[in-house]
Amino acid sequence: MIRSRIIGTGFFVPSKVLTNNELEEMVDTSDKWIRERTGIRERRIAEEQNSSDLATKASANALKMAGIKASDIDLIIVATVTPDMVFPSTACFLQKKIGAASASAFDISAACSGFIYAMDVADKYIKGGSAKKVLVVGVDRFSSIIDWQDRATCILFGDGAGAVVLTSEEGKRGLLSSHIFSNGNFWDMLYAPLNGSSNGLTASSAASAQKGGVKMRGNETFKIAVKMMEEASLEALRCNHLGVADLDLFIPHQANARIINSAAQRLSLPQEKIYMNIDKYGNTSAASIPIAMAEAHKAGLIHDNSLILLVAFGGGFTWASSLIRW
Ligand code: ACO
Repeated sequence: MIRSRIIGTGFFVPSKVLTNNELEEMVDTSDKWIRERTGIRERRIAEEQNSSDLATKASANALKMAGIKASDIDLIIVATVTPDMVFPSTACFLQKKIGAASASAFDISAACSGFIYAMDVADKYIKGGSAKKVLVVGVDRFSSIIDWQDRATCILFGDGAGAVVLTSEEGKRGLLSSHIFSNGNFWDMLYAPLNGSSNGLTASSAASAQKGGVKMRGNETFKIAVKMMEEASLEALRCNHLGVADLDLFIPHQANARIINSAAQRLSLPQEKIYMNIDKYGNTSAASIPIAMAEAHKAGLIHDNSLILLVAFGGGFTWASSLIRW
């Protein structure tokens, strides 16, 4: 059976660190509140770099590990909700920057679930036989769409990029399945109208900037996130006739340590099987899962044949899971 197997992972985060203590100077919050409610200590902020710049660095690392050249890639999919521009796609900018001349390239928008959505699409191209080497990137520069006066959201997010190289391979290893879900009825729980057609150049710039940034009904989002992450995880296991005990590593979207712990508790997952790095990076949206996966691999937590469950939840609402036999 043809499968999509990950042969390279890489990530990149900007060097500028924004600590909770620094946020105390900007809005009415405290390091204690942020740590206790979210698990976040600091996040990274891109100053000069656009999303495609972050993606370029993460991709270079993934290509290096895969041992292939950018010219070997025949498809690039970038998951992002903070593209460099409305168009061209960030994937096209990335294609140019890495020199992937033979690739087709496009973006996917599914907020924090974007990376799993993109892997799902890549898998279908690989299984259908129309792509052999695919570069999948999750990148977001949330600092560019945050309302820095809104303490309910500005403390949560950070910037970064993560990338994987998928190859078409016969055998039992690789992406076993992916499941993607959405429910647009919940759109107004978490959204950012900035630069959309509902808030474009026809709106006055001041009004547009004020109403454009990220808005979230955090508490309601929290409860739905826990439930859907549990359900998506169980669906992935059920579909493959596997159980929680078979898992070697659980890599959830890093939105809030309490969401991750609640979902893991409902799944009866032991703490040592959960990968968490939210303390260092905050919520990097589409980048959070590929950053965590690349970091976990680098740390030696992933081995040949390890069974890894990815699960995400984000604006839309969207949610998704992937099961990988490494
Ligand atoms: N500092 C201090 N106090 C704060 C802050 C802050 N930064 N933010 C809110 N508060 C206050 C509130 O005003 C409220 O005060 P009140 O009780 O006097 O009214 C109190 O803290 C509690 O607020 P809640 O919103 O109920 O706090 P909660 O425990 O729910 O934590 C949080 C908020 C961290 C946002 C949480 O709800 C959360 O993580 N939600 C889900 C995030 C998520 O999963 N998003 C999806 C992925 S992101 C994407 O797709 C782009």
